[in-house]
Order: sequence, then structure tokens, then C-alpha cells
Amino acid sequence: MTHSIALHFEDGVTRFVTCGPAETVADAAYRAGINIPLDCRDGACGTCKTRVEAGAYSGGDYIEDALTDEEAAEGYALACQMRPQTDMVVQILAGSAACKTKPGAHTATLAALQRLSDSTIAFTLDGVAPGFLPGQYVSIGVPGTAHARAYSFSSAPGAPASFLVRHIPGGAMSGFLAATEPGVTLSFIGPSGSFYLRDVVRPVLMLAGGTGLAPFLSMLGRLAQTGAAYPVHLVYGVTNDADLVLTDALDAYVAAIPAFTYTTVVADAGSAHPQRGYVTNHLDPAALHCGDVDVYVCGPPAMVDAVRAHLAAENVTPARFYTEKFLAAA
Ligand code: FES
Repeated sequence: MTHSIALHFEDGVTRFVTCGPAETVADAAYRAGINIPLDCRDGACGTCKTRVEAGAYSGGDYIEDALTDEEAAEGYALACQMRPQTDMVVQILAGSAACKTKPGAHTATLAALQRLSDSTIAFTLDGVAPGFLPGQYVSIGVPGTAHARAYSFSSAPGAPASFLVRHIPGGAMSGFLAATEPGVTLSFIGPSGSFYLRDVVRPVLMLAGGTGLAPFLSMLGRLAQTGAAYPVHLVYGVTNDADLVLTDALDAYVAAIPAFTYTTVVADAGSAHPQRGYVTNHLDPAALHCGDVDVYVCGPPAMVDAVRAHLAAENVTPARFYTEKFLAAA
């Protein structure tokens, strides 16, 4: 049986390779032309040490000098010895360029375009998206320009790629999308980014600001496929009532994922929304699980910084804390 291995490099680039039943991760990477660090290939030097983010594997044979028992217990493994037993996510302790690889380059046709509100545009590309980890992004070229913009997938892996775009007056991509029709070809590179869903091994708290909802939709799409053994709670904050989009999709995930709950927050003081203010104003202390929680935050820099300050003020240090800041670019 073959397995899909996501090789995640230090610079955020991710490449997917297929690993055959008798292959090591190093064999599969080299067959794909990716020169991950290697020396002895015999479990003796430790040059190929990697960190396993997800998946099951046989660690193979090696000596203590190459990999200590403590390192193995922390999830480190040797790529020249490791044989996958499931699909895996493996962190390569080197940059992509050093391994003679780079982000994948792709093209696809714009299949659907929807203005969800004055501030938010959704679009979908045809075909099945290239491999990515839920939460990651690609850099999409703005047709007819030298510009590119980074957008997180809002779809789950294995489905046609979809994205959310904040509509900004004068914005290169949102201006293009506002004036175009399905059928045009878009070029993009990726996937990239270290903001992706890890195995759910404790409660999860997701905090989204505006179109920062996109990566969480992708993560929830994955959890709808796999299930979640711990509570997963999302707080989704927007500026105005009209910015609150895709709550129907969130309701569908509540139905599909028994462990999932969410709440929405509107910053506008004039809103009639039951929760007004910022996401930090509506963080139930119970959702912090006294720090036994994995926290994911995606939104504007001010929001991400406010969450960090809130956790410090509450004296809570999450078990794992992942952030993605985005800036609106004209
Ligand atoms: Fe030496 Fe793997 S290359 S231990």
C-alpha cells in the first residue's frame, strides 16, 4: 500500500510525495527529486533527522548516536529508516531550496465566483486541488499584472479549491474578481505555510477575524471527514453585521462534527448582534481549558496580537499556539 507524505520544510513550503510499501521516506523524497539531508543512509549519523507531525510509521534500525530514545519519544525519526504505515506529515529540518525543491506551480480555471457580502468574495477553481494541509495557503497571480496575493484554502483537501477574498477598494485581486467572469485561467504556487491543523489530541480553540475564517473552514472540512475526539470551538469575529458570512457552512459543520461549536462576534457598537466587541471579549475561560488546549488564530495583526495579550493577561499558556496574520493589500 502506498501512502501520501507531506514534506514540510522550514520555510513553510510543503511538497507531497508518494511512498511505496517497501520505501523509506528518504527513498520516496529522492525518487521525487527532493534532496532531503542525508549522509550514511544507515541509521548511524543522524543527518536525516526529521520531526513527525502526524501519521504512524516504523522507525527502523539505528544507533543511539543517530537518534536518542528521548528524541524518538518526542516524535523525531530518521528519514533513511522510517517506513510509513499511514499518510504522514513530516517536518524536514532544512529549507526547501537547500533540498533542491520549491513550491509547486499550478494553473486552474475559475469555476465559480460569488459575492457573499460587500466585503467578501468567494471563488472556486475547477478540478481537484493539489495536495495541501488544511489551513495552508497558495500565492495566486493577479491576471494581467505582476502581482500575486496569498489566500488560504477554505475547502478541505480532496475537493475543488475554494478561497475567500476581502473586497478592498483598489485591491488588485478583489478588483479583478469583481470585474471578471468564470472561465479565466489563474496561476498559483504552493501550498505553503505552517498554519495547518495538527492531530487533535486535546481541545481546540479556533479564533477567526473576517476572511481569516477561510483556513478554519478547511480545517473543519477535514474534521468532518475524520471526526474529532475533543471539543473544537470557534469564535468568529467581524467588523460589521454584513461581514458575517458563511454561517450556514458553520451550521453544517456543527451538524457534521458533534464536538464542534461556534460563536460569532460583531465589533460595530451599533450592531444588534448579541455578542458585540472583539473575539477577546467573548472568550469563555472554559474554552481555554486551563491551558490544555491547542489555539489557532487567523486574522489581522491587531487581532492576533490582542489574543496573545489576552492569554498572557489570563496567565494561560496553550499547549500549542499557532497564528496566521494577514494584511489587506491594495
Ligand atoms: Fe545517516 Fe539517516 S542518513 S542516519
